[in-house]
Amino acid sequence: MDKRKANVTVVGLQWGDEGKGKVVDALSRVCKYVVRFCGGANAGHTVRVGQERYAMHLIPCGILHEGVTNVVGNGVAFDPAVALEEIDALRGRGVKIGPENLRISAAAHVVMPYHRLEDSLSESRLGEDKIGTTARGIGPCYADKARRSTAVRVGELLEADPLRQKIRRIVEVKNGVFSALYGAEPMDADAIAEEFIDHGRRCAPMVANTGVLLRRAVAAGEPILFEGGQGSLLDIDHGTFPFVTSSSVTACGVPAGAGVPPSAVGQVVGLVKAYTTRVGAGPFPSEQDNEIGQRLRDRGNEYGTTTGRPRRCGWFDAFAVKYAADLSGVNELALALLDVLSGFQEVRICTGYRVDGRTVEDFDPTRLGEAECVFETLPGWQEEISAARRFDDLPGEAQNYVRRVEQLVGRPVGFIGVGPARDETIVHRTNVRGLEP
Ligand code: IMP
Repeated sequence: MDKRKANVTVVGLQWGDEGKGKVVDALSRVCKYVVRFCGGANAGHTVRVGQERYAMHLIPCGILHEGVTNVVGNGVAFDPAVALEEIDALRGRGVKIGPENLRISAAAHVVMPYHRLEDSLSESRLGEDKIGTTARGIGPCYADKARRSTAVRVGELLEADPLRQKIRRIVEVKNGVFSALYGAEPMDADAIAEEFIDHGRRCAPMVANTGVLLRRAVAAGEPILFEGGQGSLLDIDHGTFPFVTSSSVTACGVPAGAGVPPSAVGQVVGLVKAYTTRVGAGPFPSEQDNEIGQRLRDRGNEYGTTTGRPRRCGWFDAFAVKYAADLSGVNELALALLDVLSGFQEVRICTGYRVDGRTVEDFDPTRLGEAECVFETLPGWQEEISAARRFDDLPGEAQNYVRRVEQLVGRPVGFIGVGPARDETIVHRTNVRGLEP
């Protein structure tokens, strides 16, 4: 019997945008369930199928594969307006979506219009100190989840009368706070209630107790893929606080955000770019705010899927990635966008930090502001590599780069992305069942 783990968890090990869409799309082929367990419409996962490009925000990427049940777990901040728009757009392109392939947790928290409003108002007020959020209402939604008395969960959208009453009560509170703090105009509770009753009516066939569904799948040994959002350095607990998102985005967030036991996490694939990017504010030690960064941005098309913002770019930070890989118990890496490094005379990797001239022993995400990178320089390669399908097809310098990443992070590289298309991937040293080379 094959003793390897049936389930796979994919998490980003940097600051998000590591190209999860493409990897999740490939792994969906060997899974029966694809599950989102964190974040919300702040995420943007891009999948290319032939000439078609799909930008997914809330719907798991497995929706593009037949026979896969896609689950929006309880840990997600669910914005029904965005989800329904996404569902309509996908249906318009011929993707079948219904209760047979999409399930939404009744326990997921709902992003309401006042969450989006508060996100923008609070960021404007912070001015220079702002977090640089995606303005999708994610932080305020999770804040209400923690506050409990002002929270709305997906299951509640299905009960019109109690929902009307609850929204009236919450909006009264929000109007009071927003007008006092920001001088904002009052919101119309009844209009919001009617809009969300309608969203509830449309989502109803897909709303379910997804924890039960997934625990049954675990018991039956059906392969599940947990699709992380954002990146580990944006994790609410383990990231570069306060410049983080508001949920648990590492593999540690899977059990709580999906309602499965920790043993269900399975094989953990840590996704990294061959360089580093970050959107929004916060420390970024290996950032190249110069022509190198601009070149990475242009070659890698580093503009946000969700907000269109230009991303900050820099060299690969092996010290940060090792920290994130240890935290999530990563078994193997998927190295994306190696083709973006083609054409550099030399490439650099950050191998550690110095603070006040002293080498730092342990990575501390809260002290990155003071950190200075220790860089190692490797020879670059001039060749385009998008046609490579085997490791041996890569130029020697690119092979060395991959080997050095493996050494520094202490994990094998399972997959190497050499271009945006589905097949522009080298299946290298993966141990994911069904995808071995
Ligand atoms: P929020 O999640 O919208 O509150 O944003 C908080 C921080 O996380 C900001 O720096 C965002 O740019 C960043 N962020 C949130 N989601 C993503 C993502 O999917 N990719 C990259 N950065 C993200």
